[in-house]
Amino acid sequence: MYIGTEDTMKEFDPAEYKKMVKSFQASDEPLAWFDSIYTDAEGDYRNVFWADLEPNPYLLSWLNNGNVVHAGKRAIAVGCGVGDDAEALSEAGYQVTAFDISPEAIRLCKERYPDSMVTYLVADLFDYPPYWAEHFDLVYECNTIQVLPGKYRTQARDAMISLLSPDGYLLVSCRSRKSGEQEDDIPLPLDREELDGFNRCGLIEESFEAYDDTQSPPVPHFFATYRKQLLQSS
Ligand SMILES: C[S@@+](CC[C@H](N)C(=O)[O-])C[C@H]1O[C@@H](n2cnc3c(N)ncnc32)[C@H](O)[C@@H]1O
Repeated sequence: MYIGTEDTMKEFDPAEYKKMVKSFQASDEPLAWFDSIYTDAEGDYRNVFWADLEPNPYLLSWLNNGNVVHAGKRAIAVGCGVGDDAEALSEAGYQVTAFDISPEAIRLCKERYPDSMVTYLVADLFDYPPYWAEHFDLVYECNTIQVLPGKYRTQARDAMISLLSPDGYLLVSCRSRKSGEQEDDIPLPLDREELDGFNRCGLIEESFEAYDDTQSPPVPHFFATYRKQLLQSS
């Protein structure tokens, strides 16, 4: 597999990538390798192999469905990568905070979008600034849980939920798998049971779509939207 433009084209070796990720996970350093994916891009965001370089069409469709007011509301993009989805949220009217644990990812975002209204910053989902708790009307997650192992996945889910303001929306876009299959995959797609963890934590599922993307061969995905329940007044 080749990535990048003609002048920057590099070969991506999936087997080497998986070996590298597994070695970090085996030494319980599952967050320590992300920045290397961005520094390996050598200053060109087009070389980041997992970046689609366009907004997620399912996010765009949700933003355009006319059911939710976006203007002036606060959104946060978790693990924002090179920024396409954060920019789409901003275009839709949100005041957007977009963060990633990778300093180089954030540097690429700022260089790519010098006039952006988005606040891009380096932060760790597991140690975010305290004022972010319950601060956001929309929390957007795309493909972060799937690159985490074991207990970090439920911790990531819980941290995402903790960012939601009362009545806020949480959107999850991810690779999917059938329960009991692909259990050693890197990235490890989510099965329905794992995604249902958002319901078990008290969110209301508003929509759920299972679909195959346009890659060859197609990769199965989920796109789900949730809403936090307002506390009942007595
Ligand atoms: C597979 S990439 C997806 C990037 C982007 N959301 C996209 O769809 O292109 C996962 C991203 O999550 C970031 N990430 C992983 N763990 C994180 C953490 N604890 N806090 C913030 N970002 C994290 C990684 O650096 C990486 O950019």
